Amino acid sequence: MSKIIAGNFKSNLNRTQTSQYLQKLDSLVQTSDSKVFIFPSISSMVENNFKHITIGAQNCHYALNGAFTGEVTLEHLNELNINTILIAHSERRNLFGESDEICAKKFEFFKEHNFEIFYCIGENLETRNNKNELEFLANQLSKIDLKYDKLIIAYEPIWAIGTGINASAEQISKSTSYLKSLTNAPIIYGGSVNENNAKEILKISDGILVGSASLNIDKFYQMIKE
Ligand code: 13P
Repeated sequence: MSKIIAGNFKSNLNRTQTSQYLQKLDSLVQTSDSKVFIFPSISSMVENNFKHITIGAQNCHYALNGAFTGEVTLEHLNELNINTILIAHSERRNLFGESDEICAKKFEFFKEHNFEIFYCIGENLETRNNKNELEFLANQLSKIDLKYDKLIIAYEPIWAIGTGINASAEQISKSTSYLKSLTNAPIIYGGSVNENNAKEILKISDGILVGSASLNIDKFYQMIKE
């Protein structure tokens, strides 16, 4: 199975930087058999019309359009031909108050519209220290349809995001094999993935979701080559 290599730009890179990056990356990845996704910041979204990269949305409200100040809605994604979305990232949950219920509503809406859905889950350090992480992960998935054939689960332990401390191979394998017992969806890993650890992580996962290290095109391309 080809690997999923996804870059989440979060709130980084402006429109000019994003479009230069995407054009360059699209020409570089011509020979890769990985599936490459980029999630630009919302204001740097571009049409999903690249040959070798799929553009996804980091966030979207679960409506076609309407009175939702500050949100983008399906109409905006449709215009850009975007049919991939990231839902339930821990930054959306923790900084912007998105509950499991809101994430599940988004999931249902975008499932109805046949989107490819990257659904993020991951425990915090306290849960891991209490050895409750598997139960916690199962609970985070309990409100969505795990049989949806366009689902990709991104396992991103919160303590590994942006810290420079990635989960160990053993920790990733334990969570991944448990998640594989719940669903046939690909399970990718995110949390301090970089050009030095990507190769090892790709051996034990279906792909990677990269934050800060994806902002540097040379580093990200190196990960794709792995
Ligand atoms: P970092 O790679 O910066 O740790 O971020 C991971 C992440 O949150 C990707 O969605």
